Amino acid sequence: MFIRPPGFEYEKQELHCERVPLSKLADKFGTPLYVYSAATIRERYSILDRAFRAVPHTICYSVKANSNLSILRLLAGLGAGFDIVSGGELERVRVASKKAVKKVVFSGVGKTAEELRLTLRSGILLFNVESEGELELLSECALKLRKNARIALRVNPDVPAETHPYISTGLREHKFGVPISAARELCRRAAGRKYLTVAGVSLHIGSQITDVSPFGIAIERAVDLIQQLASDGHQIRFIDAGGGLGVSYNSAEQADFAGVARKYAEAIIRPLLRLKKLKPHLLLEPGRSIIAPAGAVVTRVLYEKQNGNKRFVVADAAMNDLIRPALYGAKHEITPVSLTRTDRDLLADVVGPICESGDFLARDAALSPATPGELLCIYDAGAYGMSLASNYNSRLRAAEVLVDGARTRLVRRRETMKDILQTEMACL
Ligand code: LLP
Repeated sequence: MFIRPPGFEYEKQELHCERVPLSKLADKFGTPLYVYSAATIRERYSILDRAFRAVPHTICYSVKANSNLSILRLLAGLGAGFDIVSGGELERVRVASKKAVKKVVFSGVGKTAEELRLTLRSGILLFNVESEGELELLSECALKLRKNARIALRVNPDVPAETHPYISTGLREHKFGVPISAARELCRRAAGRKYLTVAGVSLHIGSQITDVSPFGIAIERAVDLIQQLASDGHQIRFIDAGGGLGVSYNSAEQADFAGVARKYAEAIIRPLLRLKKLKPHLLLEPGRSIIAPAGAVVTRVLYEKQNGNKRFVVADAAMNDLIRPALYGAKHEITPVSLTRTDRDLLADVVGPICESGDFLARDAALSPATPGELLCIYDAGAYGMSLASNYNSRLRAAEVLVDGARTRLVRRRETMKDILQTEMACL
């Protein structure tokens, strides 16, 4: 049975985010609309934080999961650092919280010279270096700017993790990181560069991983490497375990996120105990596990139609708003915002207005017959929802609101056609 994420509850048959009825938000801000629960974000951050209390650690929230400025600011206020993968994400962190910049780790296989210069100047915590070429470029940029950089080599631990192939990253054949076998030599080389300090080892094995054992295996391998690096004379101050903890999209396990977080922490902390005196500071880069259940998309039904045996509910949200079902075959639960109907649930595909058969939000979802104008809620859309939204079909990207108790804040206004057209020229 589907258990709703805790920020979203029915009260008198009306779905609320915390204490605010979703229908009120839809009327005020329009649809499709992203709605986030601030209480859920705080709660999940602190559950993760507490799970790791046995070791010195920093949670560097992965900005790519949801990069809304207000969400970043909320997390910075809780003490979070940030995992970024572009100069743009650094800029977002800077706008959200200047102080948080010194808790930024910079990952990514394709950092440009410009991005390296930007981050060197801003004094981030750690560069997760993913190739020999990047090491050389970083060294060159650091030398020119006379800026020191702490680096961690992102190693590829060659650990399989059960998840969608597009978001598994820790195998030898993936583009990420350097082979563990090459790490010692690269660190030796880095240590010879004037402005670089080898300060850590980092890894990230993939995303939406629900069995925690691959995390443990990967950390075991990183710990072996850290021991070797220490014996080579490097001072390894950080171990970055990446992100990747999965959530249950039918929400059955979410009621016990504390239990999941505890198991995850155990898997990561246990191998670290082998390091005894070294005690590196643990960095974590969770995105989804903090923000996915905190967000939902509210969409309005435009039409209901029957094509042969197939029932379609055409909604005003589409794959440009939430691409996860189309791209990864992800299943997001959908329920009506108002439970006034008593009809039996029937199977339907919930689809958007975009001109592709891949434009679906759910397939064979059990939904009561929908009337045009009715509102639906798509759950667990806080992570990789809005951050992957596009303007495909020249659709305006949705508005976002953050609910905190009875208070609502518009944290991103709906795009206008003017916003979209202003970067283009109609030449010739
Ligand atoms: N650190 C690094 C280096 C990453 O590449 C990622 C995610 C994270 C941390 C955060 O992972 P998380 O804790 O959120 O699993 N768009 C896909 C997910 C892509 C994940 C990319 N990297 C989806 O919607 O499932």
